[in-house]
Amino acid sequence: MNNLVNFLTNILVIIVPILHGFEGVELPKVERSLTKNGFHRELTTKITFGKSLFKNFSNCDVMVLELLPPGAYIDPFQLRTLREFGGPRFICDPVDVEQPEYLASSLNVSLYTSALTDDMDDLMTSVTIPIHLRYHRPSSSVEYTLVSIPKPLLLLSCTAKDYTGAVIGEEDLSCTSATLIKCRWTMVEYLITVANLD
Ligand SMILES: *[C@@H]1O[C@H](CO)[C@@H](O)[C@H](O)[C@H]1NC(C)=O
Ligand SMILES: *[C@@H]1O[C@H](CO)[C@@H](O)[C@H](O)[C@H]1NC(C)=O
Repeated sequence: MNNLVNFLTNILVIIVPILHGFEGVELPKVERSLTKNGFHRELTTKITFGKSLFKNFSNCDVMVLELLPPGAYIDPFQLRTLREFGGPRFICDPVDVEQPEYLASSLNVSLYTSALTDDMDDLMTSVTIPIHLRYHRPSSSVEYTLVSIPKPLLLLSCTAKDYTGAVIGEEDLSCTSATLIKCRWTMVEYLITVANLD
């Protein structure tokens, strides 16, 4: 069983870059990792853009939009506290941290990453947030349940003048975490190294 899974994973990892190579489309790369154990995890999202994707990256802010399922949440109070220690700016709806999974709804969190930094041929940014898991309804038949965190949306605040990569669409979202004023954000296509984290 383990062998089969490894085999399939290898094929996917190989096929994806080749397909995109044929299309001649360069895409940003998103790497996801989850650290710590139990109900309190840390989710890190690292984003790498080839420099050639931009005409002028200094006009571009990056947003990661997390679509958390009812089984997971962020604690806005904790995340605000982390601001003092370099944590991300963010916007999300109010969160009831006490709710069990079967009463909670899904949660969108807009993460405003720090500015893109220059790293040889690439531009990079990353964002780390603590994620907490909610208690599930007790069950006598299952000991574990899976909480899948879907791939996030990657958005840029700049236009086709500045970004030449593949885009999916546009959305009007807050310009910064500190304002209700909306800006036009461009949702961009990307390659992900981990599609789901359990
Ligand atoms: C990039 O944009 C910034 C801000 O609009 C501007 O000051 C700068 O001159 C631009 N750089 C290039 C190379 O166009
Ligand atoms: C979260 O964002 C997605 C994609 O933009 C949207 O379809 C969904 O309605 C949003 N959900 C909530 C709870 O705001």
